[in-house]
This record gives sequence, C-alpha cells and structure tokens, in this order.
Amino acid sequence: MRLTHKTIRPVGRPITIHFDRQPIAALQGETIAAALSAAGIVAFRRTASGAPRGLYCGMGACFDCVVTVDGRIGQRACLTKAADGMHVTGALPATPAPLADAPSAAAAEEQSPDILVVGGGPAGLSAAIAAAEAGAAVVLLDERAAPGGQYAKPLADSHADAAPDRQFRIGLDLRQRARRAGVHIHTESAAWGAFAPDEIGALVAGHAVTFRPKRLILAPGAHEAPVPIPGWTLPGAMTTGALQTLVRAQRVCPGEQVLIGGTGPLNLQLACELLDCGVKPVAVVETAPRPGLGASHHAVRMLRHAPDLLRDGVAMLVRLRRAGVPVLWSTRITAALGHDRVGATRLTGPDGERSLAADVVALNLGFQPETGLARALGIPHRFVATGLGHLATETDADGRTTLPSVFAVGDGAVLGGARVAMARGRLAGLAAARDLGLRAPDDPAARAALARATTFQDALWRLFRPPPAELDGIADGVVVCRCEEVTAGRLRAELAAGLTSLPALKKATRAGMGRCQGRFCAATIARLCPDAPDDWSFAAPRAPLRPVPAAPLMFQAAEFTAPLLTAPTPPARRHRVPTQPVEMRRTDVAVIGGGLAGLCSALYLAQGGVDVLLLERDEAGMAASTANAGSLHVQLLSYDFTDDTPPDGGPAAHTLPLGPRSIALWREIAAAAGEDLGLRTEGGLMLAEDEAALAWLRRKSAMERRWGIESHVLGANELRALAPALSERMLGADFVPAEGYGDPLRGTMAVLALAQRHGARLLRGAEVQAIERDGAAWRITTSKGAVMAGRVVNAAGPWAAVIGDMVGLDLPVTGTVQQVIVTEPTPPLTRHLIALANRHLSLKQQASGGFLVGGGWFGGFDPASGRTQALRRSIEGNLWVCSCVLPALQGLQFVRTWTGINPAIDRAPILGEAPRLPGFFNTVTANGYTLGPIVGRITADAILHGAAVDPHYRLDRFEARRI
Ligand SMILES: Cc1cc2nc3c(=O)[nH]c(=O)nc-3n(C[C@H](O)[C@H](O)[C@H](O)COP(=O)(O)OP(=O)(O)OC[C@H]3O[C@@H](n4cnc5c(N)ncnc54)[C@H](O)[C@@H]3O)c2cc1C
Ligand code: FES
Repeated sequence: MRLTHKTIRPVGRPITIHFDRQPIAALQGETIAAALSAAGIVAFRRTASGAPRGLYCGMGACFDCVVTVDGRIGQRACLTKAADGMHVTGALPATPAPLADAPSAAAAEEQSPDILVVGGGPAGLSAAIAAAEAGAAVVLLDERAAPGGQYAKPLADSHADAAPDRQFRIGLDLRQRARRAGVHIHTESAAWGAFAPDEIGALVAGHAVTFRPKRLILAPGAHEAPVPIPGWTLPGAMTTGALQTLVRAQRVCPGEQVLIGGTGPLNLQLACELLDCGVKPVAVVETAPRPGLGASHHAVRMLRHAPDLLRDGVAMLVRLRRAGVPVLWSTRITAALGHDRVGATRLTGPDGERSLAADVVALNLGFQPETGLARALGIPHRFVATGLGHLATETDADGRTTLPSVFAVGDGAVLGGARVAMARGRLAGLAAARDLGLRAPDDPAARAALARATTFQDALWRLFRPPPAELDGIADGVVVCRCEEVTAGRLRAELAAGLTSLPALKKATRAGMGRCQGRFCAATIARLCPDAPDDWSFAAPRAPLRPVPAAPLMFQAAEFTAPLLTAPTPPARRHRVPTQPVEMRRTDVAVIGGGLAGLCSALYLAQGGVDVLLLERDEAGMAASTANAGSLHVQLLSYDFTDDTPPDGGPAAHTLPLGPRSIALWREIAAAAGEDLGLRTEGGLMLAEDEAALAWLRRKSAMERRWGIESHVLGANELRALAPALSERMLGADFVPAEGYGDPLRGTMAVLALAQRHGARLLRGAEVQAIERDGAAWRITTSKGAVMAGRVVNAAGPWAAVIGDMVGLDLPVTGTVQQVIVTEPTPPLTRHLIALANRHLSLKQQASGGFLVGGGWFGGFDPASGRTQALRRSIEGNLWVCSCVLPALQGLQFVRTWTGINPAIDRAPILGEAPRLPGFFNTVTANGYTLGPIVGRITADAILHGAAVDPHYRLDRFEARRI
C-alpha cells in the first residue's frame, strides 16, 4: 500500500513496470522493491530449492531481493530504480543481457585523491567534510542513489517533503556541507576490493576506477544482525531497517498487519513512523524488560548526555500507548509462520507462548559492522559477544587502524550510532588532513561530543541489550545460511562428525558461500562452532566484497610466468584447530597432509587393511584441494607443450596416462560415496584464436594421441555446433572427450569420509615439526605430540619440500598462488571444460549454473601471515581472457574470488619411496584435483604390495637429470 503523510506527497511521474508480465503502477524515482511492495507483492523470486524470497535487508547487502530486469540478472530490487516499461521477473533468462560494455580503455582508470572515503553515511560524510574543509582533495563513494547511509537516508525522488523532520534535516545538512566543502561525491559507486591501502578497486557509476589515495577512510556502515528463527526467510519477514526504508524513504508498506520485533529504539521509531502514515502496527515486541526503577541510573546518564534523545524515546513510548499499539516487553518473536509469505508470528513472553497475525514482520536484534574492506587489508578485528556477536575493527581514538594510512569509523568499524559516527568521522577526517600537512587542528568539541554520545549509547545498550545468542534454541530445520539454504541441522551434523571451524563448515556445506559473502550467516555459524569466536572464526573476506558486474573489469593483462614460492609460510589459522583424543600415537603409516593427495593415499591404504594416521595441521582439505577449480584435466595445458618440450613430450606427456585413470577412480569414489560429486565428463575444448594457435593445437593433439589420449582437432563449424555459446572468433579446438569437472568441495569431503569409514584416523591440528629415524620406525614430532610410524607418506602439497628437508631430502617442490573466480548462476550455456591455447584460462559451468573461471592466474602471498590474496590485475586479466571466449560473461556478475597454493614441480608428480630412505614415501602432484585419486592409488600400491613406481614419477629422475 502507498502511505499518506501530512507533509510528504508524491511527485514522481506515474509509470508502469511489469512484474512477471503483470503491469504494476509505479512512481518515477522509487525502487523496484517499493513499487512491488506498494502493489502488495512480497515474493520476488524462488531459490534453487523453490523457496520464495523477497526483500530482506533493504540495503543491498543480502541479495535476497535479486531480480532480472530487462534480461539483466542479479539486480537488487531494493536499490534499482523503477523505470517506465521495465520488465522485472524473478526468473533467469536463457541468455542474460549484458550488464555493461567491456571497457574500451587498456586498463582501469587510476585516481589519486588525497583522501578516499568509502561510505556516505554520517561517519563518512563527517570525515569527508572535515578533511575537505581543511583543504584536502576528497573523493567519497557510496553505493546508494544518494548519500546519507541508513540514519540520514533521504526521501526517494518519487516524493517531496514540505517539512522534513530532524533526521531528514541532518542528512540534508551533511550533504550540503560536503558539497560546499568540495567533496567529490560519487553515488551508485562502490569499492569492490581492497588490495592494498593505496589500491582500492571501485566501480564508479559502472566504470572501473582504481583509487590510490594518500589516506583511506572506511565508513561502510553496518547491516542488521541475522535473526535465525523459523520463517525468517519468508517473504514479508525483513529487517527493521528494510521496512523503515520502505516506509520512511519510499513511502510504501508491503502489508497491513505489521509486527515489529527485536530490541532497541529503532523498532519504536518505525512503529511511530507507521502511525504517522496511518498504519497502526499490531505490536512492538521487545526482548528487553520494561525499564523500571532499576534502570533509572541509566536513564539519568542518558538524560545528562543526550536529553533530546531520551525525550524522543519517552515521547515514542507515550505516542504508541496513546495510539493503542502494545509494546510487549520481555517478549521474543520465536517464529514467522506462513507458506508463501508471512501470515502470523509466534511469540514467547511473560504470559507464555502465543500467536499474533501479521503479514509483515520487521526484525532487529542489533547490528554488525561491515568489516569486509578492513579485513581484506589485514587490519586486526576483535569479536564482540553482544547478542549473536560481531567483529569490530581495532582503531585508536582518531579511528586510525594498525595501517597508518587507513582509518575506520562509524558503525562499519565499531557500533555506536549516528552521533558517535559523526564525531569519530570528524576526528578521523581531521587526523587524515593533518597527516597530509594540512592545518586541521584537533577539535575538542568533537571529542567532547564523542564522549557524550558514547556514554549515552552505552546506557542505551544497557536498557536495550540484544539477548545472548540462544544457539541451542535454533531448531535443526531453521535455515542459517539464507543464500545457500543451509540449515542448523546440517551444520550440527558436520560438527558432530568432527569439523570444528567455520572455514571447514563452509567447505563441507557451502554455508557462507552465497552472494552475501556470509554477512547474514557467519556470526551464527561461528557461534555454533566449539571455539570461542575471533577474527579467524569468520569467513575470510574475498573480492568482490559484493557481487559486481564482470564486464567493466575486463582488462587485458600480459601473459606471465607465475612467481614460485619456496617453503611458503603456513597459514596462521592452523594454530586454532583443537585436536581430538586419539587412543594411540602409533601407526603403520603416517600420512602427512590432509589434502587430496594425502586423503586418497589414506583411503586406499586403509582399504588395503593398513593402519593409517593422517597428520594435518589444519582441518583436512582446507588448502588447495578445496580451493581448486575442479577441472578434470587430461590434455596438455598451454604451458605443458612449448618450444622447449622434448620430443617425447617431457614430464607433462609422461603424466598424460594418469588423467583418465584418475577420473575412472573418481567415478568409483562417487559410487562408493553414493553421490555424484558433481562429476561431469562431457569433454574439454582448448580453443584456438588464430591459425598459429590452431597449428600448435594440431601438434599438441598428435602428442596426446601418441600417449594414448583420445584427442581431435575440430574446425570452426564443428566447434560452433558443439558449443554454440563460445565466441565466433574461435577458429577451432583440441577436443578431448575424457575431460570434465568435479566439485572440489564435495569430492574432497567425500574422500575424507570414505577414508575414515575404512578406518583411517585423522589427527587435526597436528603440525609436523620434525621427523627422525627411530630403529626401524619413524618418530614424528608434531604440535600435538609424537607419533611413531612404520612408514611415512609426505603429502604436504606445496609444503612437501619443508617435510622433505626434515629427513635431508631435497624435494624440487615449490608453490604458485592461484586464483579462481565464480560468477552468479545462469541457465546452462556450456557443458565443456574450456581452455584457450597460449593463454591462461580454464572455464566451466557448474551444475548450479555458476561459472568457475581459473587457469592459473596468480595471486599474492604475505610471508608474515601465510595469507594468500587475489590480485586485482589477475582478476581483470582472467575476466578479459574469459570474455574473449564466452561473450555471455558480459551479462554476469562475479560473486567471489579465492586463492590457494598449488604445488609446482616439473609437470610430473613425485611418487614412491625416496631414494636411500626406506619407508619414506612422497606423494606430491600438481593438477591434484584430477590426479589425487591416482597418486593415492600408486602410493598405496607401493606400500601395500611393493608395486614399482614409473621412473618418470620417482624422485630419482631429478638426480638422473643432474648427472
Ligand atoms: C586455485 C587453484 C586452482 C586449481 N585448479 C585445479 C583444477 O582445476 N584441477 C586440478 O586437477 N587441479 C587444480 N589445482 C591443483 C590441485 O588443487 C592441487 O594439485 C592439489 O589439491 C594438491 O593436493 P595436495 O594434497 O598435494 O595439497 P594440498 O591440498 O595443498 O594439501 C596439503 C596439506 O598438507 C598440510 N600440511 C603441510 N605441511 C604440514 C605439516 N608440517 N604438518 C601437517 N600438515 C601439513 C596442509 O595443511 C594441507 O592440508 C588447483 C590449485 C589451486 C591452488
Ligand atoms: S547468508 Fe549469505 S552466504 Fe550465508
């Protein structure tokens, strides 16, 4: 319904949009979500499981409201403005329309302002004003159509207000002062990746810009904390902020019976705002007890430090009472009930359980700072255990982080409300300006205002404290991860099976891997885990921070040789993994490394009746084996077949026969696991862009056939018939029918489960630190105590040389940091594994519809923390190569990038017993997702039956070459 108000009136031109072909009356200047809500439509789309979804966060963070607009997929209804004649649907088109043109420039534009402010809420605007007034050149980015953030958001352009209230006036004032001070404000512009303090990737009105500011001020605000109760994903259930944006800014309400629940004054304010528009809420359900005498000293503190705000609070309560809106104190909403939309709620309070009819439920149990950019830069964070809990950025009094050129202010760093945000923003803006040598004296008034606002806020939180997370109360059937539809029961089952951390649960269940990047599930998952949460308990921040269109970021980057890492520092998070008791630290075979190479070795050894103990410093499968792109490679890759390749094809050619054998083992593993593991072998195509590449593919194909691999070179017409979605520019391809794809997450977890089913034991969190001979056995010192083993398998992947060194072995194993990009799902476009001759690329569409884009583009490595990181140039270059092959990529958003360390050898594995070290075996390989099963099988056969290992895979080959 559209809302009426005594001073606010519609001014937007009446227009018509179409939703699922139905005409909907809309107003120019309002969002799609507003137009649909006004028409009473709350279900915008269906998830992969068929569940209806609509508006949830209302601020562009959750991506639940994504719709297809005029063929463009992934558009957020809450941020996208309605336009006359627009066609909106929740369904995906067969071929997505381009989201943008690929850029015509050779590289992203670079801008080097004095100060870049990310986020245009009260904190960001205040920082920008302070710095610009001191003379700094300030650029401010905000994703929304107008700055103001949540607190000071303006009225939509569809309406005009003859007498703006105080909150609107604060926003107007901040915007005017920022413009007067000369701040360059870019709206509908977002930072998508923080690669370094002076390398911020952004899309400015759809155009790629790399900002290289002298100072960076992060003020990205907060989103509301998730409230995982039954029915919280139903259309009509949304955050209080989402409903407030509809009501206050867009002047619509999606239903008639509105129930508001959770805690805090925002809920009371929304109830009053609804009354102002003639809608009487059913009730306000407040978890906090009614403030009584015991709360008087908090009230006194509030009165002393912000009497106006206390007055407002009291006035709101009086107003609600007069209007007959019940405020149900000490009461919680325990479920939203309904089928395709909310129809009722269940409450529990002092009078017991009861139901209340409601077709809109607004929920707020506090906020969580938007820490993605700060975390991506490696800035330390602490866990704040209020309610469900959240991370807060460590800063000094001026908002300066541990990185001297980076400030973090407002609710995006530490929760504190609008007044705290404005004061902190101002202090940070002044400090940043001073850093640049500008005259920006400290502002004692701002410090005093900050002290007052902080004290007020503290007193307020004592009255309206989000209740402690009642994790046991989250029923097994409740969806915890909205994006990937993962329930609490699924997570608990994995925890019961031995997983202990969010990163491991993420890989086992996909929870946290959705479009929202875990914003609305990570805290719940972290709390379900056994350890006390900290920064490591939350999913690692990945670029892009939010899904962004791939097209504007497609910039050609030169082909390269990836840098090699020698003995890379182990990732810091390994220390967190608790061990579980093992009955005996003696074993026939100790396998070092719980990646696929180690897990497959353990599986086949255990199957063969040998006692196996897997030693893994982290949880199993957390490194390359789940970070890889899942390509089942059979043909030679571009860099496997070069001018330097010897006539017999060299190590890569000698490895060719292992591919088909390993894929056959993958099928056996899938059958034993009783699931398909995403395995698809519909063939791989390596494409040629020009005649020279085609001639090279012919030579390569001949080499593959020599080694028994089925390989055909296809001409342009045959290629077109086989894979019509590929670019018409391609002249032909090397087609190898045995190639395909497997889901690395499901595959690796299935091998772990099978190995354990066959009796292999896993010692998590056990870092191997030393290995020595002890009579006929090996004594292995680990961070969890000593282990005696008859034989040792070194399957430590890129760290294998470190393990080899412990026994005096010189293993020529290094590592390369590689990246994978995933796009949002689309209907099927290609079935094949796609590569491109002479360029780094691997590309395939998963069963879920998303494309996995990889091919060995390299990432960054921080030797101090062992952290790997995607690089902007690699993302751009990888997307560019991909677009040359698959033009449809221009219609997709890319959702996530991740990195891992791939073992690098000479293009053949190192297998078998080490020379002169009886009982010490190596199992190390590149292309290890493909080859994991076969290298495990060869290792197990060597140990179980003394089977000979092909000399081309043995370590001695390097000695022979040296001689
Ligand atoms: C981004 C990326 C994309 C890739 N794409 C593909 C692809 O599409 N297809 C394909 O076939 N291959 C691909 N690969 C390669 C493949 O993932 C690797 O070859 C394979 O996973 C290696 O398996 P692993 O078990 O040897 O190593 P890892 O999976 O790295 O496992 C090594 C394990 O050893 C543990 N460890 C190390 N040192 C110690 C110690 N001292 N004590 C205890 N534990 C220790 C580590 O914690 C880790 O769990 C890709 C790799 C990356 C990084
Ligand atoms: S809720 Fe979005 S990833 Fe889990």
